[in-house]
Amino acid sequence: MVEILPSILAADFARLDDEIRNVESAGVKMLHLDVMDGHFVPNISFGAPVIHSIRAVTKLHLDVHLMIETPDRFIRDFVEAGANSISVHQEACRHLHRTLRAIQEAGVLAGVVINPATPVSAIGEVLDVVDFVLLMSVNPGFGGQQFIRRTLAKVIELDGLRKEHNLGFPIEIDGGLNMTNLAEAVRAGCEWIVTGSSVFGAPDPAATVRRMQEVAREATSVRV
Ligand code: DX5
Ligand code: ZN
Repeated sequence: MVEILPSILAADFARLDDEIRNVESAGVKMLHLDVMDGHFVPNISFGAPVIHSIRAVTKLHLDVHLMIETPDRFIRDFVEAGANSISVHQEACRHLHRTLRAIQEAGVLAGVVINPATPVSAIGEVLDVVDFVLLMSVNPGFGGQQFIRRTLAKVIELDGLRKEHNLGFPIEIDGGLNMTNLAEAVRAGCEWIVTGSSVFGAPDPAATVRRMQEVAREATSVRV
């Protein structure tokens, strides 16, 4: 089952409640929340208190993407704030296996993320540990960037490994997804599609999500 995950990074933060209810009305099941620290990535977004407030207005799955250095320090904060899944960058963890286990022990799904310049082989040793894998299709830090097409080859490679080792983790893709490349990402093997500016930058975000869900469903039906 393919899910469209709106990233609120592109939403109007002064009207988050309305923006979330709007995409929720389109049948969205998961929201993507981008946490940036100004160190790991050259931008600052929001932290656990904002996620706590979002938790109070929605029951949706909250998928928290941590773009922060040494994320171990904050796992408990994000779980207590209401995260349902937490992903950490391979590039930001000294002891990746330990960090992933700590996320699971805290009671939520654990994901590993890799940047466009990081090969799939860098996470080979944790594929049997993770609950999901996020492949960045832009360099993290900003919404509205151009999709890096090479990521599709990485999706196909990861999907191959997943089949070879009989692993069931979903593949998530994040950055530059829109109506024109969405079907390709699904056909390559992605199940969780993050989309920020294409949804919240559109005149009618709910209608855009519905169209994306439709395109994703059609692409799933032709997947091998
Ligand atoms: C980028 C973030 C993305 C971002 C996606 O660092 O991880 O989740 O919000 O935004 P778009 O869809 O506009 O590329
Ligand atoms: Zn993200």
